[in-house]
Amino acid sequence: MQKLMQQWLGRVVLATAITAVTAVAGPVLAQSSADPKAPPAGYVAAPEPKPADTNAERGKSQPGNNAPMWRAVRESGTAPGISNLPGAEKGVLIQPMVQYPGVRLNNAGEAWRQVRNQWIIPYGGSLILIALLTLALFYWRKGPLGGHRADTGRVIERFTPFERATHWSNAIAFVTLAVSGLVMAFGKFLLLPVLGGTLFGVLSYGLKTAHNFAGPLFAVSLLLVLITFVKDNLPSKDDLAWMMRLGGMFSGQEVPSHRFNAGEKVVFWAGVLVLGALVVASGLVLDKLIPGMAYLRPDMQIAQMVHSAAAMVMLALFAGHIYMGTIGMKGAYQAMRTGYVDEAWAREHHELWHDDVKAGKIPAQRSSEPAPLAAPQA
Ligand code: HEM
Repeated sequence: MQKLMQQWLGRVVLATAITAVTAVAGPVLAQSSADPKAPPAGYVAAPEPKPADTNAERGKSQPGNNAPMWRAVRESGTAPGISNLPGAEKGVLIQPMVQYPGVRLNNAGEAWRQVRNQWIIPYGGSLILIALLTLALFYWRKGPLGGHRADTGRVIERFTPFERATHWSNAIAFVTLAVSGLVMAFGKFLLLPVLGGTLFGVLSYGLKTAHNFAGPLFAVSLLLVLITFVKDNLPSKDDLAWMMRLGGMFSGQEVPSHRFNAGEKVVFWAGVLVLGALVVASGLVLDKLIPGMAYLRPDMQIAQMVHSAAAMVMLALFAGHIYMGTIGMKGAYQAMRTGYVDEAWAREHHELWHDDVKAGKIPAQRSSEPAPLAAPQA
């Protein structure tokens, strides 16, 4: 018992001694082993100057800087305020955090702005320029294609009045949308410095209004174009041979095709159907023409990105179509303007179609409209 008491007393004395030594020597040891510039023990630092947290305070040091107000607005993003603006989210001045599947954006408005200004505008603009440059080079080296056969004077009806009306209403709407869309996307950089704010403001406001009205006309006529031309754009086994030799564009020997060749079919399916559907669907969201949608900011941002990216690819693709339909191929524009082509043109550019017409498998005249050209018989 006495031995146990002695052991216990010894431990208490040792623990007390260690505690006392640590308390006295600890700060000194810590000070000597840590940063020599650290303040001595007992030093009390002056309070850190607080950042100006009201506009009035910030205005004294940085006149005109109202960051504190916007920070407060942003922090209250989930608690809508009062506003007399129309529409959803009207009381929220700054977009709060957005959660997409797999992505969380704390500053979605700024992220969207960056995607538009740093990706879509420069890459889309480059794509359109590259397409135009390629077509200019092609025209310079090759000139207009075709015209190797003398006209026979006998004509075939290539497009009925209904097909032409459908095509041209769609084309007029497309050109209106293309011009006004390009001004909306690139006008700030290309036209504003030349025209000045007032003139550019009036022009871009007018074109934006034209864009909003041409959009629905484009949507309806695009649907009609799809229905009207789908039958003759269905794939056929001859398209592969045409594709393998790129239509004979570089060999000078055109590959036989039916009413529309494989190149036209690619424009039809990729350009008219896929890109057309993307541009029209996103455009209807931007115009707020889809009933029942809430039109929240994230919806509009996604619609804007899809719309402008698809429209720019579509523009690059249709630059090729418009080139071939005007200066790129002799007689093509006449076909869509008058509806008729000479048999020589039909044989040179769509030999299988020409052969089917000559064999009586396809009627040479489908509408009751008289042929505009004299058709002397051989
Ligand atoms: C100024 C603009 C345009 C011009 C000058 C133009 C010109 C032409 C010409 C000349 C043809 C006849 C080609 C042939 O005989 O094989 C044609 C066909 C056609 N165009 Fe256009 N076009 C324009 C815009 C458009 C637009 C915007 C679309 C649709 C979005 C379009 C869709 C078609 C279709 C579907 C065909 C029938 C051939 C095919 O299915 O590929 N065109 N165009």
